[in-house]
Amino acid sequence: MAVTPPGTSAATADIRIDSHLDGAGGRSLADDALDGLTRPFKELPPKHFYDARGAELFDRICELPEYYPTRAERAILEQSAAEIARLTGAVELVELGSGTAAKTRVLLDALAAAGTLSRYVPVDVTESMVRECALALTSEYPGLRVHGVIGDFERHLDQLPEAEGPRIIAFLGGTIGNFPPGSRRRFLREIARLLGPEDHLLMGTDLVKDPSVLEAAYDDSAGVTAEFNRNVLRVLNRELDADFDPEDFEHVALFDRSNEWIEMRLRARREHTTHVRGLDLQVHFDAGEELRTEISAKFTPERLEGDLAAAGLELASWMTDPEGLFALTLSRRPSL
Ligand code: SAH
Ligand code: TRP
Repeated sequence: MAVTPPGTSAATADIRIDSHLDGAGGRSLADDALDGLTRPFKELPPKHFYDARGAELFDRICELPEYYPTRAERAILEQSAAEIARLTGAVELVELGSGTAAKTRVLLDALAAAGTLSRYVPVDVTESMVRECALALTSEYPGLRVHGVIGDFERHLDQLPEAEGPRIIAFLGGTIGNFPPGSRRRFLREIARLLGPEDHLLMGTDLVKDPSVLEAAYDDSAGVTAEFNRNVLRVLNRELDADFDPEDFEHVALFDRSNEWIEMRLRARREHTTHVRGLDLQVHFDAGEELRTEISAKFTPERLEGDLAAAGLELASWMTDPEGLFALTLSRRPSL
């Protein structure tokens, strides 16, 4: 497949792909690593997990017995997709962090059955995901146009194509929980600004529950999540010519009860210094020192409604699975 340089697009009859990333996703990784690895409490933002191997490991996480969010969200979609199609009358679905769009098909089926579906707009930082998803969906849904956007939803929301009619902006998988609270509200406000009077935000959020259930979901017995977590070090080795030994780090997942979020960390097994040649940076780790790689916030209905209200959004529908593990919400701008 032809390589599309940043800021350009490639199109066939049903597929158009815009790319807003420079080469290897480069600058932002270098900036984030320099910033995050030189802090007193080391930290890396989660979007760098998802190279091709990271994306594959994430798919395996979604199949794990301990990782209930994917199954719960799918169950809600299966139960509510027809109602969502009816309430929104959407002609297009924009999906932020679309990945393989596995659950999205439930929604696309419902919009196709309602006879309104015309376009799907997947947005993801992982180039291969957007391309493969566009090819798969145009062949599965005859007549569907796919306008893929390869980019960072924190930087490129203003590059989304103009709406062609009522649309759903979907943000599934609990990915909103990966933002710290301040940026979460800012991000929701940015999404709210994209919504026209006929548009809806469809968002998946994981709910607060027994910490042992939460911790198991992020620390599975087969060690897939641990491998996913350590994968970010392989990304740094490859992209920034670093010399991390992933086996020097232990995977840690714990539920922070006061913040109501899961924290994932990599804990140094021994004291050592890593050289990140691409940044000309030496990074020292004490034995037991931790590098934070992700938070995944868990919500109560009150907190979620508060966040939506702070972004100027009102709840149109609250949907949950029979066990109340996960929530899917439909919200919109209040009519004046
Ligand atoms: N929506 C899917 C995938 C969730 S995993 C599901 O519910 O299962 C999170 C996805 O968001 C990954 O595909 C990852 O590549 C993408 N992602 C993470 N940070 C991103 C960012 N800043 N901009 C765009 N995509 C991002
Ligand atoms: N959005 C997902 C979540 O917070 C991402 C995720 C699930 C994840 N499991 C993970 C990220 C393990 C890193 C490691 O639930």
